[in-house]
Amino acid sequence: MEELLSVNNVHMEYSTGKSKLVSIQDISFTIHKNEFVSLIGPSGCGKSTILKMVLGLIKPTSGTLLMGGKPLGEDNSRISVVFQNPALFPWLDVLKNVEIVLEPIMRDREERKEAALKYIKMVGIDGFEGAYPRELSGGMKQRVSIARAISTSPELLLLDEPFAGLDVFSAQALREELLDLWLPPDKPPHAVLLVTHNVDEAVQLSDKIVILSRRPSTVIDERPITLERPRNTRSDEFYRTVDEVVRTMSP
Ligand SMILES: Nc1ncnc2c1ncn2[C@@H]1O[C@H](COP(=O)(O)OP(=O)(O)OP(=O)(O)O)[C@@H](O)[C@H]1O
Ligand SMILES: [Mg+2]
Repeated sequence: MEELLSVNNVHMEYSTGKSKLVSIQDISFTIHKNEFVSLIGPSGCGKSTILKMVLGLIKPTSGTLLMGGKPLGEDNSRISVVFQNPALFPWLDVLKNVEIVLEPIMRDREERKEAALKYIKMVGIDGFEGAYPRELSGGMKQRVSIARAISTSPELLLLDEPFAGLDVFSAQALREELLDLWLPPDKPPHAVLLVTHNVDEAVQLSDKIVILSRRPSTVIDERPITLERPRNTRSDEFYRTVDEVVRTMSP
């Protein structure tokens, strides 16, 4: 399998006043092309920190992150992100919120609009192109964020607890839709890195789960999930896998 992202012996210390806080002791893992990877671990173990490093927003104290074998540079156009709280521009309608990220990569206005509309439809919010973020529910805003993130055809899609703020029904619906977007192997994104606290969610979606310890964090286990897709989230096999992951997390 072709390696897309590798995180190698990343160590992270934050200085808080006079003292140092070791957030990440030593984390290494890889994401291959066509792989859906989840990162799970206790609150404060550095999951969001890792995503920020992948986005190039912060640098590790030591260790390296490589994309396609090369150091992550200034150009992060191959990577998109969806955060827990959708960061939409309140003064722009849904269509403009998606179009704006396409501006740097699509010159032609009509082409841009067409592309934005396609992704808005894909995430099931067509009809709301002219609505403003304040007029949308949490789930709908999260759909706009997802449309925006995938509209740039990223190689790697980062998701930081994107369903955590939603009710169980919206979260489940959106997970299914994410899977539909993800599964065709020839279309971007070519890999997904999902941060979640939800073990069921990780088992339902992932090809591999990277389990982190509490701070200062290390990788407890890198566990392949080989359940056949589409996955039956009510099967004994599914429950057994969830149980194994939970036991690994809290030995
Ligand atoms: N800018 C910062 N300055 C100082 N400490 C920070 C900073 N950002 C994060 N930390 C610390 O680093 C640790 C890891 O934070 P991070 O947000 O990555 O955790 P997380 O695994 O995403 O947690 P959660 O599951 O609660 O979102 C925490 O203990 C936090 O206090
Ligand atoms: Mg976090």
